[in-house]
Amino acid sequence: MSERFNQAAQEWDKGDMRQNIAHAVFQTISSRIALLNTMSVMDFGAGTGLLSFKIAPMVKRVVGVDLSEKMLEQLASKNTPQVQVKPLYHDILSEPLEEQFHGIVSSMAIHHVPDTAELFKAFYAHLKRDGFIAIADLEAEDGTFHSHGNEGVYHFGFERDALRETIEKAGFANVRFHHAYTVDREDQNYPIFLVTAHKY
Ligand SMILES: C[S@@+](CC[C@H](N)C(=O)[O-])C[C@H]1O[C@@H](n2cnc3c(N)ncnc32)[C@H](O)[C@@H]1O
Repeated sequence: MSERFNQAAQEWDKGDMRQNIAHAVFQTISSRIALLNTMSVMDFGAGTGLLSFKIAPMVKRVVGVDLSEKMLEQLASKNTPQVQVKPLYHDILSEPLEEQFHGIVSSMAIHHVPDTAELFKAFYAHLKRDGFIAIADLEAEDGTFHSHGNEGVYHFGFERDALRETIEKAGFANVRFHHAYTVDREDQNYPIFLVTAHKY
């Protein structure tokens, strides 16, 4: 799967769709969560950092976790003395990090992880007390969103009720869904949610 993203990395930011999604996800996050300059935040599946670099100016530190070296190279190339995101090639599911974060954000990454229950348990373990998650992905779709094929796609979006149950089972409270964006295509629309929750 990382091969697919390694190949896509150079062209990832071209075109409007991914930029528009990241913009809308950021707007939805910042209208729901107080991002503070004392916070450390993980962007899970950060890719080239489309979301990370919007979060970074608002908080103390952003770590962009990903499993594609080439996507992370693109992310690293955007660092400036003023705004920095730390690229981190790491599988948090197989080996937890020692660091805990004030928040975990993610955009369009969790449908690429086979075991959603284990992923949310890992998110919980990587959060400080009172920490938040703000995770964006596709509402349940029919498998047509990825026009280049579904290799590495383990979920055709998510049903809200089932995902809420998974998130609550991982230990989170205050689970709330918000509409973040809709990708409009000629023959179909693909809504994207943001789900927020807290570790108390
Ligand atoms: C569709 S891209 C989204 C990238 C970025 N968030 C964006 O919105 O442009 C999904 C990203 O998740 C990463 N990814 C998939 N599985 C992962 C895992 N288990 N741990 C970390 N990153 C993962 C991929 O390498 C890829 O960069």
